[in-house]
Amino acid sequence: MTITEIYHKILSRFPLSMQFLIEMLSYWKRLYCYNASMRTDHDMYKMQYTLLRENHIIEKGMSMRQSRRGFGQAKVSALIQRLHKYHRLYGTEDPTFLTYPLSTIQAYISYQQHDGVAIPDIEKAFMQLCQEAGIAPDMLSIPAGIKTMQAEELRKQAKGDFSNLLHSRHSIRYFQDIQPSKSVLEEALTLAARTPSACNRQAWHTHIFFGEDAHELLRMQGGCNGFCEDIPCCIVVTADMKGFLGHEPFQCYIDGGLYAQNLINALHFVGLGSIPLSCGFMSSQLLHMQKRFNIPANEVMIVIIGTGVMYDEMKIAESTRRPISATNMYH
Ligand SMILES: Cc1cc2nc3c(=O)[nH]c(=O)nc-3n(C[C@H](O)[C@H](O)[C@H](O)COP(=O)(O)O)c2cc1C
Repeated sequence: MTITEIYHKILSRFPLSMQFLIEMLSYWKRLYCYNASMRTDHDMYKMQYTLLRENHIIEKGMSMRQSRRGFGQAKVSALIQRLHKYHRLYGTEDPTFLTYPLSTIQAYISYQQHDGVAIPDIEKAFMQLCQEAGIAPDMLSIPAGIKTMQAEELRKQAKGDFSNLLHSRHSIRYFQDIQPSKSVLEEALTLAARTPSACNRQAWHTHIFFGEDAHELLRMQGGCNGFCEDIPCCIVVTADMKGFLGHEPFQCYIDGGLYAQNLINALHFVGLGSIPLSCGFMSSQLLHMQKRFNIPANEVMIVIIGTGVMYDEMKIAESTRRPISATNMYH
């Protein structure tokens, strides 16, 4: 019997469980080729995505309620080094990419100057990089760093038309030390239930935590170091794997993701601030969190949404978007 025959015999005996295994292997192959941690700098796009991430960490640091004085110097220096490398490797292929991270570094330098922190080495390295890339610092016009927003204005915009709602929603990383009311949360949950789902299965669930439970969950999540205690409420969005059939092994992530985004917009609409927090971790970490917080194992964690009542005025990371020409292709 040939290997192919053995393979088909096993497949016909255990069709679905074998197909799941093949699906996992196929996903493993794609991870091996395309995950950004694999041979990162050999691929311009992997390098760009990781640089955008490093750039955002600097912006995010400036958008916290109380940033540590002089924070982020090692990270900014490392970002400058990687930007040099990007320029050497891909500077001619996509030179405009550099302008956003350079604008963020410029905003960071102004932020530290305003705080009275001297960072001459970073300033020098920034100037060298600008010179090498042929970009004059005073020509950097991309919005970067942080901006100050008024809660009243954001709430007004959220009640405007759809475009106003989308443009006025921002991730907010600190809230007033009060619990959002259950009636307001439920108004948002009711709106989010309008999310379309594959065959209307609505396999999403939410688990809401307040106060110290929310803080502990966020400490385990790890993506909000420095502002866990500033978030009074967390909504864990999950999707139930029991809702999906053999031919749609990843559909729970799609339906759950669509629901999560609608919930984020709905929270904005009802006047609360929010911040999506990643659940894109290794399964061992997620299962550990699920066990600790009594989230059933048949549910997959999609995202944690930190939410709360906004302060009258807040610092918000710019999080400038890429042009649609970089993300769209007509076929
Ligand atoms: C799935 C997901 C996971 C995220 N995880 C984190 C996180 O762990 N920590 C954090 O500070 N921000 C996190 N964010 C917020 C993003 O940084 C933010 O959405 C992005 O910069 C765009 O900014 P905006 O939400 O203000 O438009 C996450 C966002 C999404 C959609």
